[in-house]
Amino acid sequence: MRSKRKILCHSLAILFISSAVSCLPANAAEPQGKQPAPAASAQQSAKVPADRKITPGGAELYAKAPEPLTVAQCAQCHSSVFSKIKSDGGRHQIHCQDCHQQFHSYSPVKNNWNEIMPKCSQCHTEPHGPKFPNCMTCHVIPHTPLNVPLNDLLAKECGNCHTGPSSELTQNPSAHTQQGCTACHHTKHGNIPSCMECHEPHIPDQPLEACKSCHPVHRPLQIAYEPGSEATCGACHEKVYKTWTASPSKHSGVACAKCHPKHGQLPQCTNCHTQPHDPKMLAKFPRCLDCHIDAHNPPVNK
Ligand code: HEC
Ligand code: HEC
Ligand code: HEC
Ligand code: HEC
Ligand code: HEC
Ligand code: HEC
Ligand code: HEC
Ligand code: HEC
Ligand code: HEC
Ligand code: HEC
Ligand code: HEC
Ligand code: HEC
Repeated sequence: MRSKRKILCHSLAILFISSAVSCLPANAAEPQGKQPAPAASAQQSAKVPADRKITPGGAELYAKAPEPLTVAQCAQCHSSVFSKIKSDGGRHQIHCQDCHQQFHSYSPVKNNWNEIMPKCSQCHTEPHGPKFPNCMTCHVIPHTPLNVPLNDLLAKECGNCHTGPSSELTQNPSAHTQQGCTACHHTKHGNIPSCMECHEPHIPDQPLEACKSCHPVHRPLQIAYEPGSEATCGACHEKVYKTWTASPSKHSGVACAKCHPKHGQLPQCTNCHTQPHDPKMLAKFPRCLDCHIDAHNPPVNK
């Protein structure tokens, strides 16, 4: 560039010098000083200063028709929305624009936020029925829809969605009926507490599953159990348990639950022993335990 400009100046100088006779000397000096100057400044304004970065490409950049933004592209600016959906979006991990049919059109002047924001009814009907039309009172953040805060508002409604547990509790009065749902389900919606948060087990190392199988939690006094629970029975009925365990009788091979299938219920010997003796003898001595003494340790003939 520089060398070209020099050549131009020199050739102009030679031209002027050679025609110096016919030209005015005053003018002769001017072109040397002024004329190349405008030429030089015009060229400088068409140039971008060298220290400014310009991406190469030119017209090529404009050859391709624009494509809709991808989720990742939205995320380049909305990184926090993206990471929330990524970690806790659940089944809302769909394209932003499936929901946001219009965006970047909010205007505080028009006050149109609610108008342009997606509506749940674009895709959902009323999954909990007509009692719950205002979705976002509970699903407060649409990007993480399962994050439903456990607050007083929700606590008032437990029984309207979970009719099973609430009617179980009311139909089977127990100390648990006195507890509100959120006394137990207290950390967040859907949380299942351990019985041991509030109770000691009957015997050491008793597994949680055992508690639940004997005490259905919403009706804990409807106790149900099966053979295999002898040690638990023994926690409260120690004397019987010891007698039964130590007995040489075949009754020590019969589970507590076989004779007492419901808690507190006492069996008839004749439930299992139909014709043990001569009916004449039994007519005389109707109480089996008059002779057999202890159901948990009947005398044995050896
Ligand atoms: C299931 C539908 C749904 C999807 C999918 C969704 N959004 Fe939203 N988004 C909404 C709704 C509804 C609101 C309005 C929330 C409000 O008014 O509080 C919203 C609000 C916003 C807002 C403004 C409020 C805020 O939280 O910052 C931004 C920004 C936004 N969304 C960006 C995105 C981006 C980016 C994606 C994809 C990565 C996306 N959204 C995916 C439904 C959705
Ligand atoms: C180049 C950056 C950029 C990209 C890419 C971008 N946004 Fe935005 N978006 C913004 C800015 C800036 C705002 C206004 C400030 C704010 O709310 O964060 C905004 C606001 C929003 C809002 C709330 C206000 C309104 O007017 O809607 C939504 C919804 C939204 N963007 C959705 C999207 C979606 C969906 C995509 C992808 C299709 C996207 N944005 C891509 C920068 C971007
Ligand atoms: C563009 C459609 C669309 C919109 C708008 C939309 N959702 Fe969804 N939503 C879905 C899809 C798809 C699923 C997946 C389950 C399905 O197929 O029914 C879903 C699932 C959910 C789930 C269960 C999430 C999970 O991980 O199990 C909740 C809760 C939910 N939506 C609430 C809302 C609420 C509240 C709104 C309004 C703020 C809303 N949705 C708006 C499409 C949408
Ligand atoms: C009173 C609070 C409340 C309201 C109002 C509410 N929901 Fe829910 N919704 C919940 C709770 C709690 C869940 C269970 C979330 C979970 O699984 O942890 C839920 C679950 C869902 C699910 C997932 C259902 C499933 O079986 O997987 C969808 C979809 C949903 N809601 C959509 C909606 C829509 C749409 C509306 C508005 C028409 C709405 N909800 C109104 C509290 C509410
Ligand atoms: C708007 C309806 C709605 C309300 C209100 C609601 N839930 Fe739920 N809840 C659901 C849905 C939907 C699920 C997930 C599907 C299911 O397992 O039934 C769920 C799940 C649960 C679960 C886990 C079930 C499991 O099998 O793991 C518990 C526990 C629960 N809710 C307790 C509560 C309690 C306590 C309240 C009141 C503080 C409450 N819910 C309020 C709809 C609701
Ligand atoms: C004394 C504590 C306690 C109270 C009070 C309680 N729950 Fe539960 N709930 C539990 C436990 C523990 C489980 C788990 C039971 C299991 O795994 O067998 C459970 C399970 C559930 C479940 C899921 C299983 C099912 O039965 O559907 C729902 C829903 C539920 N409770 C709702 C409620 C509601 C609604 C209330 C109030 C009306 C309530 N609970 C009161 C402790 C409690
Ligand atoms: C959040 C605390 C809490 C949790 C969790 C809890 N309970 Fe209770 N439960 C109580 C209270 C309070 C009482 C009444 C006072 C007492 O007996 O300690 C009670 C009483 C009981 C009773 C006697 C009921 C009556 O009416 O006399 C049984 C049986 C029982 N719980 C079993 C369980 C079992 C089994 C679990 C687990 C599935 C469980 N509880 C979980 C708080 C709880
Ligand atoms: C084999 C059945 C069985 C198992 C397993 C069992 N229980 Fe019990 N539980 C009972 C019986 C029977 C009672 C006495 C009920 C009565 O007084 O009429 C009882 C009473 C209770 C009571 C009332 C208070 C008391 O001590 O008298 C609580 C609380 C209790 N159980 C909690 C639990 C917990 C927690 C677990 C698990 C660690 C558990 N139970 C396991 C059968 C069982
Ligand atoms: C937590 C303590 C506890 C446990 C565990 C327990 N019981 Fe009991 N049981 C009692 C109490 C208290 C009574 C007396 C009050 C009543 O009838 O509910 C009783 C009563 C009985 C009675 C009736 C006694 C009579 O004189 O009429 C039988 C039978 C019985 N239990 C058997 C069992 C068996 C079998 C098990 C094991 C599956 C068991 N119990 C576990 C506390 C317990
Ligand atoms: C072969 C049947 C049978 C077996 C097995 C059995 N019982 Fe009994 N149990 C009875 C009968 C019958 C009575 C009533 C005795 C009476 O009327 O004096 C009784 C009475 C009781 C009583 C109340 C009277 C008392 O002695 O305290 C308790 C408690 C009891 N059983 C607990 C248990 C336990 C715990 C086990 C297991 C360790 C068990 N039983 C095993 C038949 C059985
Ligand atoms: C749930 C059933 C059941 C009940 C109830 C029951 N028994 Fe038994 N009994 C048995 C079984 C099983 C045997 C062992 C039979 C065998 O192996 O031949 C047995 C054995 C006996 C024996 C023989 C003991 C031995 O070691 O040889 C006597 C005696 C006896 N029972 C008496 C009684 C009396 C008395 C009662 C009432 C207090 C009673 N039984 C209630 C199931 C029961
Ligand atoms: C008058 C006393 C007496 C009465 C009452 C009595 N038993 Fe016995 N029972 C005996 C004697 C004695 C034996 C045999 C002794 C032995 O062989 O151990 C016996 C044996 C048994 C045997 C074991 C039979 C075998 O083949 O091993 C059973 C089972 C039995 N009795 C059940 C009953 C039942 C059930 C009743 C009540 C309906 C009852 N007994 C009433 C005295 C009696």
